[in-house]
Amino acid sequence: MQARGPLMIEHRLIERMLSVIKDALLQIEITHKTDPVFVDIAVDFIRIYADRTHHGKEEDILFRELRKRSLSAEDKLVMEELIEEHIFGRQTTKALIEANTRYRNGDESALADIATRLQTLVEFYPKHIEKEDKIFFPASRTYFTDHEDQAILAEFWEFDRKMIHEKYKSVVEGMET
Ligand SMILES: [Fe+2]
Ligand SMILES: [Fe+2]
Repeated sequence: MQARGPLMIEHRLIERMLSVIKDALLQIEITHKTDPVFVDIAVDFIRIYADRTHHGKEEDILFRELRKRSLSAEDKLVMEELIEEHIFGRQTTKALIEANTRYRNGDESALADIATRLQTLVEFYPKHIEKEDKIFFPASRTYFTDHEDQAILAEFWEFDRKMIHEKYKSVVEGMET
């Protein structure tokens, strides 16, 4: 498997979650309510899986290695756009959490904010994923030898291996405080 393999497999699961969110948006339109626990689960998926685990491998390993290469101006620009989009994703998720807290505390006007943020996520993520799958990953592969690509893949597996421990350590710490 090439290093981009696990990233592309993760994209497919993120897309499936986006479909679930799309269905939830339709339900919000019909019923004019949502389940804050559903939003919690979607937020957990986005933060821990899409951001920490997936964007973590992209930024902390792949992009780090690419920074050591002399990228073409175009590839450099795309990498900067991708990083900006990750930041935008984090900001949107943060706003979603805040809206969900307000909604849970009885502020019904927060429902519209929840829907707006979820809509933003389902609109922007597929474009981000497509840019990586079709443009950036193939372009970035040209900067690495087969051996270097396999070293990145090995580092990806090691990164993933630590994730479950990090996740549940943070769960316990959150419950302790
Ligand atoms: Fe990304
Ligand atoms: Fe990605």
